[in-house]
Amino acid sequence: MLISVVMRAKQGAAVSSPPFFYSALISASAAGLIILMRGDLEKVLFDEPAIHRRLDDMAAQISNDYRDRDLTVIAVLHGSLMFVADLLRRIPLPLKLDCLSVASYHGKAQSSGEVVFKQIALPDVGDRDILVLDDILDSGLTLAAVRQTLETARPHSIRICVLLSKKKQRARELDADYVGFEIEDEFVVGYGLDFRERYRNLPYIGVLRRELLEQPGK
Ligand code: IMP
Ligand code: MG
Repeated sequence: MLISVVMRAKQGAAVSSPPFFYSALISASAAGLIILMRGDLEKVLFDEPAIHRRLDDMAAQISNDYRDRDLTVIAVLHGSLMFVADLLRRIPLPLKLDCLSVASYHGKAQSSGEVVFKQIALPDVGDRDILVLDDILDSGLTLAAVRQTLETARPHSIRICVLLSKKKQRARELDADYVGFEIEDEFVVGYGLDFRERYRNLPYIGVLRRELLEQPGK
């Protein structure tokens, strides 16, 4: 219904309508989509203000720890996108930013155990102080593989920073140096975290309803 109104408006039915007519329609449909996605969650764990408050603290600590160092941030895509954007804008240091693209879940709710690096050239990290940023520490396989790969380029130091860390036994022993929130061993989405590439654009983090995890899909 909403879409057909927008289409008719685009086709000229409402040429004289003021611009706010379109922006009101767009924000109404965007709000509708967010409400639809909210229905797929069992509960919200961290809303936007809670995430931003925690980022303020993390950024202050990182800024202090790296104030006299040559900081290079390596963002692990795609899950860390929102986290990186919001955290780095709170760190007033002359840092460099590079990205690594890896996949380990392949559309499932548990790590496949195989970590695939999706790019040919690795960031230039030689002699630099590296801070790896990722969305979540789960089995530890991804960050262990990232750390091992970056170490081959002989950086001065490597630390790991994650927004979320699951309280569980890990497949690979790995401790993060900076952790936003510790969570139970539940599948979460939103604020960059996905299930089958969906829900990344939710502005908050919540637990996905269990039955959705079990539905067949790619
Ligand atoms: P690990 O290799 O098992 O530690 O998993 C790391 C990656 O798996 C993260 O960077 C996420 O992309 C994904 N992941 C792990 N747990 C979750 C979750 O609860 N929700 C969404 N993605 C997750
Ligand atoms: Mg993912």
